[in-house]
Amino acid sequence: MENNKTILVLNGPNLQLLGKREVGIYGVETLDDIAEKMRKRAAELWDGAELVFFQSCVEGELVKRIGDVVIERNFDGIIFNPGAYSHYSIALLDALKALGGKVPVIEVHLSNVHAREDFRKHLVTTQAATGVIAGFGSASYILALDALDELFKKKSNL
Ligand code: DQA
Repeated sequence: MENNKTILVLNGPNLQLLGKREVGIYGVETLDDIAEKMRKRAAELWDGAELVFFQSCVEGELVKRIGDVVIERNFDGIIFNPGAYSHYSIALLDALKALGGKVPVIEVHLSNVHAREDFRKHLVTTQAATGVIAGFGSASYILALDALDELFKKKSNL
């Protein structure tokens, strides 16, 4: 059975600093460490897994990257940690909405944003996500792969 999956892993502002940034909250692992773990898990889940990583501190670059997926329709799923943009970016919300629900989007957060400052409890981009996983540190990203796998299985059974 063909089981190729191409997944876009998007990370927003300050996530390039993982491992150096507020390690008590975000942990000691770097984004590269997380990418490595994700590649291993993806290879377990799917025969031909391809993960494409993109990180930017610039809102417009993230908007553009999602827009490219809308145009090219070249990904089976998106895993997205919008960082602080999660709490206020209508531009990112609109970009995700432009996917029209055709590409599942799992929003991830390393920290449990609901157990932190009040301003982090308000999530804007999540409104266009298929689901959200928060509070499990780097494992949030691995759980997002598992969540995508569940969605793919559900879809193939329809
Ligand atoms: C974060 C949570 C956000 O509130 C914060 O601005 C981040 C990281 C997380 O992964 O826990 O940059 O998205």
